[in-house]
Amino acid sequence: MLWQIAIAVLVIYLIRNWLKASLLEIAKLPGPPRWPIVGSAFHFIGYSQSELFNVVNDLPTKYGNRVCVKVFNRYVLHIYNPKDIEIILTSTKNISKNRPYVFMEPWLGTGLLLSTGAKWHKRRKILTPAFHFDILKNFARVFEEESRALVGDLRARLQRGERTLDVMPFISDYTLYTICETAMGTRLNSENNASKAKYKESVLGIGYIVMIRLSRFWLHSDLIFYLSSMGRKFKKLLQQNFSFTDKVIEERRKNWVETKKEETASGKRRMALLDLLLDAESKGEIDMEGIREEVNTFMFEGHDTTAMGLTFALMLLADHEDIQENIYEECKSIFGDSTRTANTSDLAEMKYLEAVIKESLRLYPSVPIIGRIITEEFKLDNISIPVGTEIVVNFYNLHRREDLFPEPELFKPERFLNSDKMHFTYVPFSAGPRNCIGQRYAMQEMKYMLSEIIRHFKLKSVVKGYRPKLTMDLVLRSSEPINIEFSAR
Ligand code: HEM
Repeated sequence: MLWQIAIAVLVIYLIRNWLKASLLEIAKLPGPPRWPIVGSAFHFIGYSQSELFNVVNDLPTKYGNRVCVKVFNRYVLHIYNPKDIEIILTSTKNISKNRPYVFMEPWLGTGLLLSTGAKWHKRRKILTPAFHFDILKNFARVFEEESRALVGDLRARLQRGERTLDVMPFISDYTLYTICETAMGTRLNSENNASKAKYKESVLGIGYIVMIRLSRFWLHSDLIFYLSSMGRKFKKLLQQNFSFTDKVIEERRKNWVETKKEETASGKRRMALLDLLLDAESKGEIDMEGIREEVNTFMFEGHDTTAMGLTFALMLLADHEDIQENIYEECKSIFGDSTRTANTSDLAEMKYLEAVIKESLRLYPSVPIIGRIITEEFKLDNISIPVGTEIVVNFYNLHRREDLFPEPELFKPERFLNSDKMHFTYVPFSAGPRNCIGQRYAMQEMKYMLSEIIRHFKLKSVVKGYRPKLTMDLVLRSSEPINIEFSAR
């Protein structure tokens, strides 16, 4: 008798919730077919990572520019209109990340990317000076050295007869070196090769598992996930990842007091990001756990995003010899016959290269999709968006809207030469209070690396016009190697 009452109560509760939810205005927006209780959960199951990316990207074609996806009791609103995107990105209230980010917490803690509220405000304030214009200028030496080293490495490979290269793992070594040296004040070298490789392997593995977990709702529960083989693998990868970042912290901590004294005495403190964190620790503003979550956040965001940005840019350039020549000519007009490496004022003159990078990030935004959870109700036109709704902004799709970017699939850097400011139609670094803190850092790094490569090499794609399958991951990735042929100029 008791269990019959319990079932009746449960059924009434579910029907009541279902009725209440179906009266919501967002529930009336178009979206994939919904079933009782599960909603559209099954719409996203049974796909590989790259198929899933296509399924998500097909949503606006099928359902328009505001799509409501219901998954169990979650309402997820996908928006594609610049006006809607502006409202959500510029909000100073709705700054919390949505549910999927939670699966990254065991790794990145509530560091700057994932935190919210007072904690996020405080951390953003501590860390913003690490990306000040003057600090970035100080990093120029590292970017110069590493871009020269990258060119030297490529030349050595050519001499060994290795003309064709899978660029992603190669480039990401260098973006990892630069983030370690600039932000963490720690220099990697060949002695760290094994731990560096393990770190990169762990980032790929963690990303893969987070995405798989996201698409399999039965793995959302921590209990089930950590009992599964995937959960156990995840734990191992975390250990692998932390052992590298912990070493980076300890290395800097050892030298920090000395360096601080020296640099203060000489009046030229470098204030690497990790220095700011150690400084905050000495003032009691952050503890070791806090330092660790920020170091993990910045090591990942600071190397993987630029590595993918550079990889896709090289892929597109390899297919467009005319655009390579334009960059080369621009560099010639800046450097003449000198072989010196660029400095920051040279970078400011590289307007064409800047347009190339922007166009490449339009087609291949390293962070293709972001999300928020609504903590304060607001309206899109006359539709109320209630607290608890999740919002997904898909930059990949936005950047390929034909009405905003004619012939969207074509790689045309001219779009960004003398163009008016693109108002929320082009947002690879997001915008508003939670925009990318590393935007200028990333542009600077990519300009250094690409200009140096194009000044010394000609690039050719192995199969002209070939575009790899893309995968749904923490950053936008190719599901296959991107092979490019290099020849010396
Ligand atoms: C091509 C390179 C890059 C792209 C396209 C990119 C893009 C983005 C985007 C779209 C966001 C918003 C994420 C969200 O709302 O979930 C973001 C946030 C962030 N990015 Fe980047 N990023 C790049 C490079 C970097 C670099 C080099 C760093 C560090 C050195 C960095 C550090 C961060 C951090 C810490 C956040 C979180 C900021 C906050 O919430 O306050 N990013 N990035």
